[in-house]
Parts: sequence; structure tokens; C-alpha cells
Amino acid sequence: MSLFPELEIEELRAEIRRHDELYYNQAAPEISDTEYDALMSRLKAMEAGRPDLVTPDSPTQRVSERPAEGFAEFVHRVPLLSLDNSYNFDDLRAFDERCRKLADGRAFEYVAELKIDGLSLALHYENGALQVGATRGDGQRGDDVTQNVRTIQSIPLRIQHGGTEAQRHGEEVKQNRLFDENISVSPSPRVSVLDSSALEIRGEAYMPRSVFAEINAAAEETGKRFANPRNAAAGTLRQLDAAIVASRRLAFFPYDMLAGGRKAFATHWEIFAWLQAAGFDAHPNRALCYSMDEVIEFCNRMAEVRETLDYEIDGVVVKVNPTALQDEFGATGKYPRWAIAYKFPALQATTRLNSISVQVGRTGALTPVANLEPVLLAGTTVARATLHNEDEIQRLDIRIGDYVLIEKSGEIIPKVIQVITAKRDGGEQPFVMPTECPVCGREVVRPEGEVVRRCVNRDCPARVKGRLLFFSARKAMDIEGLGEVLVEQLVEKGLVKDVADLYSLKLEDVAALERMAEKSGQNLLAQLEASKSRDLARLLFGLDIRHVGERTARILARSFVTIERLAAATIEEIDAIHEIGLTVAESAREWFDDEGNKELISRLQAAGVATEMSGGAETQTDERFAGKIFVLTGRLETMTRDEAAKQIEARGGRAGSSVSKKTAYVVAGAEAGSKLTKAEALGVTVIDEAAFSAMLESGQEA
Ligand code: IVH
Repeated sequence: MSLFPELEIEELRAEIRRHDELYYNQAAPEISDTEYDALMSRLKAMEAGRPDLVTPDSPTQRVSERPAEGFAEFVHRVPLLSLDNSYNFDDLRAFDERCRKLADGRAFEYVAELKIDGLSLALHYENGALQVGATRGDGQRGDDVTQNVRTIQSIPLRIQHGGTEAQRHGEEVKQNRLFDENISVSPSPRVSVLDSSALEIRGEAYMPRSVFAEINAAAEETGKRFANPRNAAAGTLRQLDAAIVASRRLAFFPYDMLAGGRKAFATHWEIFAWLQAAGFDAHPNRALCYSMDEVIEFCNRMAEVRETLDYEIDGVVVKVNPTALQDEFGATGKYPRWAIAYKFPALQATTRLNSISVQVGRTGALTPVANLEPVLLAGTTVARATLHNEDEIQRLDIRIGDYVLIEKSGEIIPKVIQVITAKRDGGEQPFVMPTECPVCGREVVRPEGEVVRRCVNRDCPARVKGRLLFFSARKAMDIEGLGEVLVEQLVEKGLVKDVADLYSLKLEDVAALERMAEKSGQNLLAQLEASKSRDLARLLFGLDIRHVGERTARILARSFVTIERLAAATIEEIDAIHEIGLTVAESAREWFDDEGNKELISRLQAAGVATEMSGGAETQTDERFAGKIFVLTGRLETMTRDEAAKQIEARGGRAGSSVSKKTAYVVAGAEAGSKLTKAEALGVTVIDEAAFSAMLESGQEA
């Protein structure tokens, strides 16, 4: 423990909060998840040593290790209303007419915002600190899920609840205008937000699509997948173990705020600006609209971008902007008269399942695919849908000839979500997964505990094609033009058996392929030629070594610089790299031990493919920096810490944020604190700024 634990704890908290803000609100993280975890562990350790310093708003309090005993009921102070739905623009115009009548000649605007497909939460803050988070329930009573809510990173545990940033609000109000007219709206709290100690934030908890995809991919083997992000979010919030909730990385989109039970600003638009300034993540997709035409334009625009968002939306919510009018319009039973939901056309359709084919991926996994009677769904004709695996087929009891409900949600490939059993006529045929690979005919295995069958033949043409496509992908060797159609032909014609063969292709070979001619053949060869100088990171990723994803490949490449060094490294040496674990180390070792792979590397090198990190100015690697972790602490005089970190990274090193045995150097500036103490305790080399500058400038070891 350092001399001033209070200070260090506060510093750590501030740093973690800053990274939370960068990650969740600005989508611009500065450190890796592992580094973030390291900061968090350090804080936890320090707090464990000084429990008297633990405060309820510490970032460590987000995850409660103790499971709650069921959930207590929470009575909402102001009931949570639901929204009336509209399904077409005529409904919206009728709503507009009703509102205009109620406003009786007074001019007003609408706010159009996204309708996030999650579940609503009410968050209560007292004097700026989060006290209670509750689900909507029936609108009157919900569940107290505070422990779970505390794990949601985009829900601040403490908010800046004052109206102190009035100027900034005003700026944001202007910036967020979707339409061009000049408006000037200045925030005008009706009740002083600063004075109100009881704030209620309402909004939608949801699971980002990226997280949903990740969680479902991880569950692929066990078959315990969620049907959609909404279900996943709902299921997650009902978890009694907050640690599980934390691991599911839910997010929160705020859409309302009440101070002392009342709307605190003159307009809904200002509430959004306030929410953003208070530390919530209010998505920028909203518009202040002066007419229903503008609202409709917004709806159309959102329908277009819908699939590109990292969260599911099922429509647009249209709200009367002035809160005085909202109060005046009131509600009819369940729905407010001042708001309406416009629901997008459904992304579901029913159609007949004509047959099931089985695809083989590059890892050998067999995936059943439904061949459907073509049907129009959200603007495109759909003829195929994924069925995931045989357990899924069994779970849904899908038979050939069934009518099925299909859904397009996020992923480009639609999925079958339900069988319409009422439409069965008895002629439907059950489906049996093949026990031999449908492509190469060799045996398939289904390891115990897994739901996926795999073709074990590495040379199976389907697997070869998969590997070639993976190798040529944009994030790997980026060989433009080498797509599915071409790969298919190259493999079928026996021209290419592995990635090295690509580099011995001749113009006459490729020009003779279907849909290819002299010119396109030349282009492909030029692309292949260009790909030879991609760096080691891309090559390693493209080689598809198990557990070596894009980021891991980059770390390995930066650390070892050449493929020979990586190939010669022991498991221990690889494992010792910061952020690389044993699984990766073992898998890499296994890959490089394989005779076939050794030969593949030699052939790639013989063909002129670069197998080292490129020596360009930006990524120039320097032995003294390559793969080494530098931790900067204290104030530097000649450069900022960011600049120093960039210089380190430019030389192939990494800037870490906490000191461990893996740290190579601690660069101690003026007033260096606990990191210096820790470095000394661990025997890590400590250098001062002058020595560091000398290292940067000269070619000598400091
Ligand atoms: S406003 C009185 N705004 O939709 C207004 N709701 O169908 C009540 N929802 O229960 C809600 N995004 O869970 C509002 N931007 C948004 C919303 C939104 C999603 C949900 C919310 C509500 C349901 C009503």
C-alpha cells in the first residue's frame, strides 16, 4: 500500500471513470480491456486493504458479488405509461391533427427519437447518487433490480445533476439538429435541477448487437443461445447473480428525466441535452421537427440506417416538445396524448421450408441451412435462412415441408424462429444430420458436450475454400477480387490447394476461368502481388491459427517481429507476452510444430510473401522497444504522456498503465507516485525522462 492510499484510490477511480466515458460515451477507448481490467483489479485490491475508503459510487461497486434474494417490488412514484402504436404515416398524420387541435393554434415542435427494442427502466438518483433501478413491470409496480443496474456501464453511478453546463447544453441543442434551419434554444429549467435532490431517469436497457452476437457465438457449442437481443437483455436483468449481468454488458439509452416527479425543462429536447451532459449515453439519432413531414422524413431515414446501428430499434417515438403542452395534453388511461410510437414494418415473414442443405465451414463445422420458398422481407427477397445446428432443428422440431416464421434481425442472414405447426398436413419429413461430410464424404465427429458436428478432413474442399476466403479477407491479406466465385473455381479446378498456391497462379490459369478475362486476370495477379507486402500481423491472422484473432495476431507480430522468431518461441515465451495467454501460446506452438504448416511458411516465403513487421516509418520496430511494455508515470517535461505512448508504439513497444512483472521499463517523470514504488518493489527497471528521451533518439540501450 502506498503512502497516500486515499490519493491513489481516487486517482484510480478517476482514471477508470475517464476510460468508462471514453469507451461508453465516446466510443474511443484508449486502453485495451485487459488494461482496463488491470486498473479495476488494482482498485479492488486497494479497497480491500482499506475498506473504510470504499464509497458507494466507486467503479468497483458496479458488480455485486453477492446474489440478491429474488427481487423486491418497487412502486413507481410516477407511473410509467406505455405508448400508442402507429403502423403507417396516415396514423402519424392523424396524431398530428389531434395534437394541433389540443394546442389550439399554439405553435410547437415534435421530437422524433429512436424506439429502442429493450426493456424500460426507471433509475432514481438522490443527491446525484444512484439509489434504485427498477423495471417497468405493469407501469405501477416493477422489480427492484438495483444490483443488476449497477453493473450497466452506461448508467452512471453518480451524475452531475446540476445545470452547471448550461452553455454546453445550448451548444448541443444546436448541434443535434438534424435539419438545417438556425434555431437557438437555451436550456431553461422549470424547476431548478440543481436544487432537486430526487431525480428519476427513464430509459431503455438493451443488449448491443455486437455483444449479443458475441454471447451467442460463444454459446454456439452449448446450444444455449438467445433468440434476440431483447430477450437476452430481459433474461439478463432477471438474473440473480449481478456478476453474470456484468458479463453480459448491457447498455442503457435514456429518454426522459423527472426532477421531484416533474419534467424539469421547458422542452423534451433540452432533457436530452441535459441527459447527455449528466453522463448518459443519449444516442445522437433524434430530430427536432417542425412538421409531421419532417417527422416522416426522419422515420424514413431511420428505417434506412436501422440495420447499421449496434442496437435494435423497432420504430421511432414522436413526442410533443414543449413539456407545458405535454402536461396539458395529459393521458388517456395507458397512453400519453402527447406521444406516439411509429413501428417499422415487420422483419418477420412466413414461408415454406423446401429443403435443408448442410454447409461446411473452414473449421469443418457443419451448418444446416434452410432453403425457403422465396419471400419478401424488409425489402429483400429471402430464400435461405440459417438453422444453426442440429439441436436447434430438434428444439424447433423443424421438418422439411413445414411453414416457418423467419426473422431478419441484425445479421444479414435471416433465421427460422418458429414452426407454424397449425399448417402441417402430415406430409412433412424429419431431417437427419449427415454422419459423413456432405462435401468430401469423410467422417464427421461431434465432440462430447458440443452441438456442432465437424468434418475432420483438413483437405476437405469446403474447408480449403473457407481458409482461402479467410486469408484473402479485408482484415487479413486483403486480396481484393478474390471472392467466393473465384475461390470456388480455383479449388474445383485443382489450381489451388492452400494459400501458398495462390502465389504460383499464372495468368493463363486465371484468365481461363469463368467470368474472367485477360484484364481481370491481370488485376487479380496484381492484387496477389500487392498482398505479398502486407505485414506479419495480417499474415498471422490470415493463417487462421486457432485462438489467434486480429488483435492477438497484431500483438504477436509486434512482439516477435519475424515469423521465424515466433515459430522458434517456446510456449512460455509466448505466454510471457503482455495480453497473451496460455491458450493462445499452446495453440500457436501446435500450429508451428505441424510439418505441413512449416512447409506452408517456407513456400509463402519462397513466393516472396513478407513474414515480418514492415519497416515503414510509422511501425519501425526497434529491438529495445519491440514487444516491451513501458509504463509512464509522473509528469513529463518534454512531451505529453500521449506523445510518449505514441513514440513507444511507433517503435513496436506498448504503453501499459499498471506496473507488473511483465513491465520492461517504468518511465518516471516528476512527482511519480505509487507506480514508481511498485516498480522498485518488483525490481522493474526505472528510467527517468532524460534516459527515455535518449532511448527514443539514439540507437543505444539506455
Ligand atoms: S417514451 C410516456 N421513448 O417503448 C412515454 N419509450 O411501447 C413512455 N421505448 O415502455 C415511453 N424507446 O420501454 C419512450 N425513445 C423512447 C423509447 C421508448 C423505447 C419503449 C419503452 C416503453 C415502450 C412503449
